[in-house]
Amino acid sequence: MTPPVVEGPADVRARVRAWRAAGECVALVPTMGDLHTGHLALVDAARERADRVVASVFVNPLQFGPGEDYQDYPRRLEDDAARLGEHGADIVFAPTVETLYPRGTDVSVRVHVPAFEDILCGADRPGHFAGVATVVAKLFNIAEPDIAVFGQKDYQQLLLIRRLVADLDFPIDVVGIPTVRERDGVAMSSRNGYMDSEQRRAAPALYAALRGLAARLVHGERDYARMERDACSELEGAGLQPDYVAIRMADDLALPPADAAVDDLRILAAARLGRARLIDNIAPI
Ligand code: PAJ
Repeated sequence: MTPPVVEGPADVRARVRAWRAAGECVALVPTMGDLHTGHLALVDAARERADRVVASVFVNPLQFGPGEDYQDYPRRLEDDAARLGEHGADIVFAPTVETLYPRGTDVSVRVHVPAFEDILCGADRPGHFAGVATVVAKLFNIAEPDIAVFGQKDYQQLLLIRRLVADLDFPIDVVGIPTVRERDGVAMSSRNGYMDSEQRRAAPALYAALRGLAARLVHGERDYARMERDACSELEGAGLQPDYVAIRMADDLALPPADAAVDDLRILAAARLGRARLIDNIAPI
């Protein structure tokens, strides 16, 4: 059954407070909609950990740069709500831009997370992560969940949100869920639909490049710059335009020392393929 789709923050807060007053544990799953199996895995994980699940669907204008796909981002709330219901969401919070940013997006307060917002994807998308941190802080304040579930697919986003929670003292347990992939290894993403069939055939090169680097790291190689360059060339050879390939410390994305233990590392990459910007990351082991 399709759960109630709620537009007003006060309505969400009242429902969540009633659940919590009855001793129930509440999980929040923030999304921008156009849901695929990866998103639904987060809802399943939330269901396993909490008595009540709030899923939000909101295409957040603050996190899109000029010339990005804000206008074109797929919006299909009715289908999304039905699927969220099948996976046990109790309510869908789907605010309008005007309800979340009543004074306008240009003048709204921004939440900055300096350690994470300017590197890797943040370097290619100025303002993106402040937009993410701002909307997530708002969702946390509106829904007041005990648990919030995010995907490891957006690894930099996951770490940024963990830092946001730690530094602003949100009493929320942040859970990170492994990336759900297509059979050929491509990480599921709402933006995969932007690729034509030829580009889609080239897309597995991104995950393949990450796995290649993982094997070299496991083998003991530690010339990170060289490995990153090799992976970029490999991606270019497959027809992708890499924004970055980076081997970083898994806990804070810092540059790793030459003697880093392999399980302290994370390999991350972003590349453009036609209109799509693909991102992916893995742990070496
Ligand atoms: P969106 O891209 O819709 O993703 C919502 C959540 O689903 C994120 O936590 C993301 O990491 C997770 N996700 C996406 N694809 C996944 C996959 N293949 N496997 C596992 N999890 C996956 O990320 C956002 O929206 C926004 O930035 C948001 C946090 C909602 C703030 O606006």
